[in-house]
Amino acid sequence: MSDPIRVGIIASRVRVEEKHLLSVFEKRSVPVTLINDDELIFTTGMQPLPYDVILERSVSTSRGLYAIRLLEGIGNLVINTWNTANTCADKLLTTLALQDAGVPQPTVKIAFTPESALQAIEEMGYPVILKPVVGSWGRLLSKINDRDAAETVLEHKEVLGSYQHSIIYIQELIKKPGRDIRAFVVGDECICAIYRNSEHWITNTARGGKASNCPVTPELNKIATDAAKAVGGGIVAIDVFEDPDRGLLINEINHTMEFRNSIEPTGVDIPGRVADFVLARARERIQAR
Ligand SMILES: Nc1ncnc2c1ncn2[C@@H]1O[C@H](COP(=O)(O)OP(=O)(O)O)[C@@H](O)[C@H]1O
Ligand SMILES: [Mg+2]
Repeated sequence: MSDPIRVGIIASRVRVEEKHLLSVFEKRSVPVTLINDDELIFTTGMQPLPYDVILERSVSTSRGLYAIRLLEGIGNLVINTWNTANTCADKLLTTLALQDAGVPQPTVKIAFTPESALQAIEEMGYPVILKPVVGSWGRLLSKINDRDAAETVLEHKEVLGSYQHSIIYIQELIKKPGRDIRAFVVGDECICAIYRNSEHWITNTARGGKASNCPVTPELNKIATDAAKAVGGGIVAIDVFEDPDRGLLINEINHTMEFRNSIEPTGVDIPGRVADFVLARARERIQAR
């Protein structure tokens, strides 16, 4: 019998998702080591860690990103790759990657000062959405309905915001039908999707959006897999808007996806599909040695 594949999972703590992942690897008789990012120490020139593949599941975006880059730098195979994670972690880099690949998305304007941002907002026309280029769970998103609100939020960003708030990301508001779509892509397949319904314009399930199954139509599969490919591929969760005139548009892409609320409505074994993808990449890597 061949040696078992050695899997590492970098995590900050064992959340519901990590419990699911540990259990599906166990079902496949694959030994998994949890690597706590609290305890990691990197030294220049060090040897690769003793795993055939490492799955990055840090809660912290910055830790996760640097850990991926450090591990890839010493020769480990990490999922997702630095290229994918770094692009997805930044909404502006994601927008540019989608633009390069010709994947449909809402119109975005970028400005670097409150004055130019105000001009860009007025060009776009109210309402607009402002969002930090790095962030999740709907935090610090602003729906700006008029010039008074624009001036206020831009001043707050300038005075109170951290470094990244000086990059002003302005997105047109999409007239969604009270919901958006979260599509899960593993490799080159959209394995399932959910609708997220909410009375609020922010539909994140972390903010109370309700999940229900969304059929993966050929159209959804195409735009979701195109979007995943545009950011470098791997295991990603993609926010998709249904625009009444333009059809499906990609909003943003998440590289360390949460899936706890999506297994039951879709009936798809998301952690099982993740584990199979991780193991397949590890086998390819072992064969290439
Ligand atoms: N341009 C927009 N038009 C309509 N709704 C939006 C827009 N941008 C964000 N939203 C809503 O806010 C949610 C969170 O925005 P998103 O860009 O995905 O940020 P986060 O990284 O915090 O999830 C989206 O899922 C959607 O429901
Ligand atoms: Mg989102």
